[in-house]
Amino acid sequence: MRIAVFSAQPYDKTYLEQENQHLGHELVYFDLLLNATTAEMCKQFDAVCVFVNDDLSAPVLQKLKDQGVRYIALRCAGFNNVDLLAAKALQLPVVRVPAYSPEAVAEHTIALILTLNRKTHRAFNRVRERNFALNGLLGFNLHGKTVGLVGTGQIGLATAKILKGFGCQLLAHDPYPNEEFLTLDGHYVSLETLYQQSDIISLHCPLTEESHHLINQHAIEAMKPGVMLINTSRGGLVDTPALITGLKNRKISALGLDVYEQESQLFFHDHSGEIIDDELFERLLTFPNVMITGHQGFFTEEALSQISSTTLNNLEQLAKGENCANELTQAID
Ligand code: NAI
Repeated sequence: MRIAVFSAQPYDKTYLEQENQHLGHELVYFDLLLNATTAEMCKQFDAVCVFVNDDLSAPVLQKLKDQGVRYIALRCAGFNNVDLLAAKALQLPVVRVPAYSPEAVAEHTIALILTLNRKTHRAFNRVRERNFALNGLLGFNLHGKTVGLVGTGQIGLATAKILKGFGCQLLAHDPYPNEEFLTLDGHYVSLETLYQQSDIISLHCPLTEESHHLINQHAIEAMKPGVMLINTSRGGLVDTPALITGLKNRKISALGLDVYEQESQLFFHDHSGEIIDDELFERLLTFPNVMITGHQGFFTEEALSQISSTTLNNLEQLAKGENCANELTQAID
């Protein structure tokens, strides 16, 4: 197969090539987002392999189909960027990597919580300046604090297991409760209760029409004063202006983001020499109690290896006409 790999970074190439050694596909790497313009480049390809910020809306899918592309392989779990109904109608099977080390994202979630709480990022800089003052670095014990998880799928559950080890009380909201969460002494509650009782709230649900801007002004108003909010899931789950208001009026005491609604224009590239036009993003960076990472939750050796092997295996199955358990379009009526 000839496979066009979009949003390709050097690490994608390293891990995909490792997996491809025994498969012998021709992988062509583009450090470009897939969109209506770049879809024009796919004429000679059997498959396109894409990531979280590539555009797989109906017009782009139509262009891919017109160029003769037969399969779409996502190198990620989330599929909010794909019009699955359009893909199904065009008979373009879409496969994904449903689980590739949920622990990677869970551990990054904990890294954000610990850093924001104990201000190790600020301590690091102070000590390098030989400034050993502790003022402004005060944190709280995680032990005994209540953490509310929105979504207890693979990542939410992996996060819950770590937090249980810290001695946290666990609350969650999920339309499909997970038995294993209950074995951690976790309690399922309504969103309202989760907002009211949680010291820390962490988002682990997918971005859907229903969950878009789940965290808005109304939700923030219902939260405990001084809440810490963490989003390692998808940027569109939160209304950024509402977060900024919550930070300005001190309702939110700390905010950790690994994702951002407009991240496709920023993340995964070096913009350090440029002026960023996104006023909301720039405002977020002015707060001392905000930590943003550039969608690196998944970024571990184990996860990259798993992503590459599952992606190529998914495509192998499609090409052989076999049933692929990771096909999203199959699940659509
Ligand atoms: P999963 O499918 O195993 O779990 C998602 C859970 O969310 C399910 O239990 C589902 O019932 C629940 N859910 C759906 N809608 C909900 C709602 N409105 N409110 C509360 N719960 C809801 O997915 P997984 O693997 O745990 O991933 C979760 C999300 O994490 C993905 O959708 C993706 O957006 C994000 N992610 C982020 C990464 C990163 O690098 N930062 C990497 C991988 C995934």
